[in-house]
Amino acid sequence: MDTIVLKEIRFRYPEGSEVFSRLDFNFPAGGRIGITGPNGSGKSTLFKIITGLLRPLSGYVELFGTEMRKEKDFAAFRTRVGYLFQNPEDQILFPSVEEDLSFGPLNQGKSRHQAEEIVKQVLKQFGLESLKNRNPFRLSGGEKHLVALAGIAAMKPEILLMDEPFEWLDDSSMQAVLDYISQTPSFIIISRDKKMLSRICKDGVYILNNGLLKK
Ligand SMILES: Nc1ncnc2c1ncn2[C@@H]1O[C@H](COP(=O)(O)OP(=O)(O)O)[C@@H](O)[C@H]1O
Ligand SMILES: [Mg+2]
Repeated sequence: MDTIVLKEIRFRYPEGSEVFSRLDFNFPAGGRIGITGPNGSGKSTLFKIITGLLRPLSGYVELFGTEMRKEKDFAAFRTRVGYLFQNPEDQILFPSVEEDLSFGPLNQGKSRHQAEEIVKQVLKQFGLESLKNRNPFRLSGGEKHLVALAGIAAMKPEILLMDEPFEWLDDSSMQAVLDYISQTPSFIIISRDKKMLSRICKDGVYILNNGLLKK
């Protein structure tokens, strides 16, 4: 089964030119792919369409075999499809790291105690223990990025969408992110680093250009 299907997607921003005129994309269960492409080719827009943050003018999105028609449909899949934004500031919601990381698990119906355990585990996994009580908005770019990723890891998504996850990172956080990716069963990673993508994406690297995705 394809877990993500985009069919004949047409999209433009209200004050922009057309980003996609007829985009088709099929992402198989367990797929691990990379997407690269020039600046402004629509990579970030593609993730926003998949997750329903932007809605196409025509065409449709299917997630796990279900056609997404309304916001409510997308909302039901938000924790199964984890989305790391290109800009971590867009991801952070709460004024403490701990609170921010608990939000996903609590939203998934976990108890306070279960959420605390999960938060403890992801803080350790990403080497963020010392930042637990900090205000995430006042962290460095790299730290914010890791907190955003830890927040997604806390929800244990089935598919991970990561928009430029290797920006900002120093060597040790890079290793934590690579370890996390290697444990993730299915993902799509947007990156400019084609070498890295070919190393970690067993199902290939696509190039997005002129509104089309090609291997
Ligand atoms: N909010 C917006 N309003 C208008 N145009 C936008 C907006 N966001 C992005 N764009 C334009 O849409 C195109 C695709 O953007 P984006 O998906 O961010 O590209 P990429 O991630 O590949 O660099 C670009 O031409 C960009 O300028
Ligand atoms: Mg982008």
